[in-house]
Amino acid sequence: MAEDSIENLIRPHLVRVDTYDAMDAPETLVEKSGISLENIIKLNGNENPYGGSPLAVKAVAEVPLHIYPDPRQIKMRKSLSEYTGMREENIVVGAGADELIDLIFRLFISPGDTILDCEPTFGMYSFCAGLAGADVHYVQRDTEFQIDPVTVKSAITDTTKLMFVTSPNNPTGNVAREEDILALLETGLIVVVDEAYFEFAKSSAQDLVEDHENLIILRTMSKWAGLAGLRVGYGIMSPKVANYMMEIKPPYNVNVAAEAALLASLQDANYLLGNVEKIINERERMMQLISGVSGITPWPSDGNYLLCEFGENEALRVFKELASKGIFVRNFKSDRLKNFFRIAVGKPEETDLLVDALKQIM
Ligand SMILES: Cc1ncc(COP(=O)(O)O)c(C=O)c1O
Repeated sequence: MAEDSIENLIRPHLVRVDTYDAMDAPETLVEKSGISLENIIKLNGNENPYGGSPLAVKAVAEVPLHIYPDPRQIKMRKSLSEYTGMREENIVVGAGADELIDLIFRLFISPGDTILDCEPTFGMYSFCAGLAGADVHYVQRDTEFQIDPVTVKSAITDTTKLMFVTSPNNPTGNVAREEDILALLETGLIVVVDEAYFEFAKSSAQDLVEDHENLIILRTMSKWAGLAGLRVGYGIMSPKVANYMMEIKPPYNVNVAAEAALLASLQDANYLLGNVEKIINERERMMQLISGVSGITPWPSDGNYLLCEFGENEALRVFKELASKGIFVRNFKSDRLKNFFRIAVGKPEETDLLVDALKQIM
């Protein structure tokens, strides 16, 4: 077989696609760093340090594994309707919010269409755009990392189909203003408001869904409910768009373990929201402590993470030194964030070790 014959068969736009910069698994971190698993502090994935609900763990252990999941998602949509206050017809469940992002591309985007990405932001949107053969038009957020709707609107062309607004934004931590979301909805294009960190921010655009068929809200069970490993998230949207999404999704997209865990977690929402409060308090303590370390400026955040700013050429050095001590945080390749990294909020003892390490390094 000629050396490039497989490449000749692969869809041309996928041969050299910009891949998603995903986090290494803990075992890989152990292998790369030579530090044992119990000494690793993993603060690079915005995961929940308290794990899932004990009721979810029990439910997963008991679920029959030999029956396919419910393609109509009846129980999950009902439970999520009670949790969110939206109607069941407004809700679609996915294998993580990530799958819903992919489904949004499948539903709305043809090769050659354009999406607007408000940088800096979550990398999945541009990754999925690459898979769909769409063009990404990057619109820079302002100096406070807010979206300027005038700038966004001026980037719209004949090929623009949809735009992403992340609130709170990952990695900058700030919530989008409702008037800006409304201004973007006026364009009539699809506006996806990604509220993966909703429970930490307690602010949502969900009330706008009723009057705006072009609004899709994304949520996840990964962060507040500690189910990142099971992959389950949901979208809130008009019944019309929800029906289309239900029709094009893989029939059994959410596995039975994820379904059982979601249902049990919603039963145990008070316990999980208690953990959210602990994380919010810890975020504020961590903000105070890091503000006291010279050379680092943490940005205020409504998520379960802090974006930290460093002097010129310092971020990568500190990132590497932390990694050599077994503390893993998230750094970025983009020019705008080259002097920053993002730290997830862990347990208090993890914050203490992190801050000690930062003091030594700085
Ligand atoms: C803004 C944002 N949206 C979506 C996701 C993905 O969520 P899920 O784990 O449900 O796929 C993340 C995960 O980090 C995120 O930060």
